Amino acid sequence: MNALSLELPHDINPKTVPQHVALIMDGNGRWAKQKGKMRIAGHKEGVEAAKRVVKALSTAGVKYVTLYAFSTENWKRPALEVSGLMDLLMLTLKRELKGFMKEGFILRTIGDIEQLPSSTRDAVKEVVYQTNENTGMVINVALSYGGRWEIVETTKELVRKAVNGEMDLQHIDENTFSQHLQTSGMPDPDLLIRSSGEKRLSNFLVWQSAYSEYVFDNAFWPDFNEHNVWNALRDFQGRKRRFGTSSDAS
Ligand code: FPP
Repeated sequence: MNALSLELPHDINPKTVPQHVALIMDGNGRWAKQKGKMRIAGHKEGVEAAKRVVKALSTAGVKYVTLYAFSTENWKRPALEVSGLMDLLMLTLKRELKGFMKEGFILRTIGDIEQLPSSTRDAVKEVVYQTNENTGMVINVALSYGGRWEIVETTKELVRKAVNGEMDLQHIDENTFSQHLQTSGMPDPDLLIRSSGEKRLSNFLVWQSAYSEYVFDNAFWPDFNEHNVWNALRDFQGRKRRFGTSSDAS
């Protein structure tokens, strides 16, 4: 994180910022293509954008940020891009650890991290371990993550407990299910932002985003900065969340 300080614009109410913001960081490849660069150059700039966005969200007082860094589907990309991304993630985590400690950030991950190359997995585990006792914002990185995969894994775990007699079938409800997801202990995202103009969930937080507000921004991810964040927060604060109740009841 750089040392420049940010201020929350006056028209954003710090009392009603979302607790949890989830981000689909899309458009690195198109940004690179537009500039005649390799895709990995787009991902590198994507890391810089992620740092700007995390800093803005932290300034706003957001408590949890989930970044969709690598999906289960991303394994199908060319091997060179996959290994480039894995190295970039490893180097970014190693480089940012100091900043995480200074800011008090906590690193968490969701996804099948055993699938990652050992160098990336080790860096992830190290930063998770080092930041475990911090008390600041949680940065939750989705790595080899798919929402449907997570739901299937959770179902298997609950079935296993039911079969072993550790859990009564009658006691399985939406709450127990949530508690067995990888995001256990985190509130569901209030706000989900996707960059690059695409309007899809792409297998991200399928269960958790049932009642999230969605903001779609046309900017490619590497161009994202605090102004895109402020606009998303303004948009969020202008909405009425009803969670399925009628407009009279809200
Ligand atoms: C999508 O762009 C982005 C990704 C596959 C994720 C990679 C994200 C980063 C490297 C950002 C930094 C993350 C962290 C945790 C610091 P794309 O390749 O799908 O773009 P395209 O749709 O334009 O091809």
